[in-house]
Amino acid sequence: MKVLVIGQGGREHALLWKIKQAKKVKSLYSAPGNGGTAGIATNVPISPDDIAGLSKFCESEKIDLSIVGPEIPLSLGIVDIFKEKGLRVFGPTRAAAQLESSKIFTKEIARKENIPTADCEIFDNAEKAKDFIESKKAPLVVKADGLAQGKGVIVAKDKSEALRAVERIMVEKTFGHSGERVIVEECLEGEEASIIVISDGENIVPLASSQDHKRAFDGDKGPNTGGMGAYSPTPLVTDKIFEETVVKIIKPAILGMKERGTPCCGVLYAGIMITQDGPKLLEFNVRFGDPETQAILPRLNSDLLELIEACEVGALKNYSLKWDKRTAVCAVMASGGYPGKYEKGKEISGIEKAALPEDVLVFHAGTKAAGKKILTSGGRVLNVVALGDGIRETADKVYRACKTIKFDGAHYRKDIGRRALNLEVLQ
Ligand code: AMP
Ligand code: GLY
Repeated sequence: MKVLVIGQGGREHALLWKIKQAKKVKSLYSAPGNGGTAGIATNVPISPDDIAGLSKFCESEKIDLSIVGPEIPLSLGIVDIFKEKGLRVFGPTRAAAQLESSKIFTKEIARKENIPTADCEIFDNAEKAKDFIESKKAPLVVKADGLAQGKGVIVAKDKSEALRAVERIMVEKTFGHSGERVIVEECLEGEEASIIVISDGENIVPLASSQDHKRAFDGDKGPNTGGMGAYSPTPLVTDKIFEETVVKIIKPAILGMKERGTPCCGVLYAGIMITQDGPKLLEFNVRFGDPETQAILPRLNSDLLELIEACEVGALKNYSLKWDKRTAVCAVMASGGYPGKYEKGKEISGIEKAALPEDVLVFHAGTKAAGKKILTSGGRVLNVVALGDGIRETADKVYRACKTIKFDGAHYRKDIGRRALNLEVLQ
């Protein structure tokens, strides 16, 4: 089979790495890919939002299957367009992708299906949103309805911050159309985790649990980023929490979407807050998480392509996956200044040496190949992943590998998984 993975991050490198192990794969393509994917696939310089360009490429190259990494092409309807042209593609339709592209859509599904989530009010008028905030106690969370590259959510510790968030989203239109409506919701307390499943629109196959690290610096300090690291599985998600998340959050959403006539096929990712009252839904994504995927896939012993093909034909009932029992930890090495301004084009050394042990992997994100050299070309540059026994030992392995990789301005969090260490000892 000829398989194309659409996207250019660490998630896509991990997907390609895993798909390459599939028995049926003959050739792999990556659009546009990065400096790491170039080593295992053919990079094709087409942007993930250039759907016409991608479909033309798939038709002319006779690609058998495309796997979509990022949310933008999904929200633009890449799956609908590919299917109309008779092209095979793994991902949800535009209608199902609303679970990610509209937070208000998701709240409506949650209300209808009784999915536990934060209490909220929805506004299409800035003054009304502000009046509501004035009548409530802080902290409050203000969310732009649409896609905003993870920046459209403001957890406001006081009312003035919440009011300012409404001003920025609705009046200054910082996120354009994505901010035409806002959600103001209660602030939930607890630990966050990610539960990702593959769904054929009716049945689901859960992947292993994981936890992202969204803040830039150690101790969850600093601004939000695209994700500075992850590990899998997380002891925060006990069997009970896992089961509750599947039964109360994921299955009702899958069923609700099917009943609407817009089944959610592909990936469903539930970002949950584990509260004192059990898991509550923070958000749905309709794609693999980044960097969660980089920690999950190295532990998957089953064939990912077989799973995707079973999903395509609606054969996920009683499908089970085999997992490596070891823990995976992933630390993201970022450019100096990220998530703010950063420079590109810095030469990276030491990647091959870092990845010498058979239980260490380096997935590229913001890199590009320039002859024999690998240069930085983005904010999140590399994902250093190790497999090992328990979080502490595995994290040590990751950080030993990180130390051998050098580029000007490189920084990474040194505490990936630390919040779960005590729990791991207790279990
Ligand atoms: P979302 O895109 O909705 O998942 O929000 C992004 C991040 O904002 C989440 O990962 C949480 O850290 C935080 N967040 C969102 N909603 C809430 C909430 N109701 N209470 C507390 N934190 C939240
Ligand atoms: N790790 C968060 C996300 O993929 O949205």
